[in-house]
Amino acid sequence: MKRRGDKLSMLTAYDAPSALLADRAGVELILVGDTAAMVMLGHDSTLPVTLDEMIFLTRAVTRTARRPLVVGDLPFGSYERSDEQAVASAVRLVKEGGADLVKLEGAGRMAARVRAIAESGIGVMGHVGLTPQSATRLGGFRAQGRTAASALALLDGALSLEQAGAVALVLEAVPAPVAAAISERLTVPTIGIGAGAACDGQVLVWHDLLGLYAGPTPRFVKRYAELAEEIASALESYVADVRGGSFPEPRHTYSIPDEELAGFAEALGER
Ligand code: KIV
Repeated sequence: MKRRGDKLSMLTAYDAPSALLADRAGVELILVGDTAAMVMLGHDSTLPVTLDEMIFLTRAVTRTARRPLVVGDLPFGSYERSDEQAVASAVRLVKEGGADLVKLEGAGRMAARVRAIAESGIGVMGHVGLTPQSATRLGGFRAQGRTAASALALLDGALSLEQAGAVALVLEAVPAPVAAAISERLTVPTIGIGAGAACDGQVLVWHDLLGLYAGPTPRFVKRYAELAEEIASALESYVADVRGGSFPEPRHTYSIPDEELAGFAEALGER
């Protein structure tokens, strides 16, 4: 698709019904991202989610997604220590979670992890720019590559991941011209999030796209719906109906033949 100039769409999903809908919408890739920590599990960063939890969520997605490639995210602490740790975690995401590819954050010494996983036969997606697992070290959730030197370092990092065997790269919160230069120089596709239109594809987080997340929304998010509002109003109607007695109606309940009901009443009387 990159060679043809066709854009890739990737969307996060964390459960079976969402994966089914993403598949139906025609996305090429589903990312079971570690954003699950925040949007699904209620944490205030991506750091606490465990590999076991990521496998559980990935499995739910791969049970229903048929056509898209499913990318399982390696969570913080599951790959940094050694190549052996990275390969073991990636194998679990593929074997137990059913992921087609795995993703990890960072370049530099992470290129060795990418190489080790790739050499074990598992496709790896890299992730550079704003890498939320190391946001503290980066000075917070801020755009990366905004000086000539850091833009060049980003490009070098991206190239090193490609050389290590990455099959695609997420570019997060990177100035559009820098992301364009990186995309042009890589043969593997770039998937942008806050990285402009020249990337080979785009990714958004399910809850951001649908207006389901109450936390702060980065400027790169485009909301396509306000589902939290719709859901809240549906739930309030339900509660009001139950309290007011207008739910359930006869059509929501089961009948019993008259003679059986009479027999039941008689039996009750005898008791
Ligand atoms: O975990 C995630 O959802 C991600 C995307 C924001 C790219 O890494």
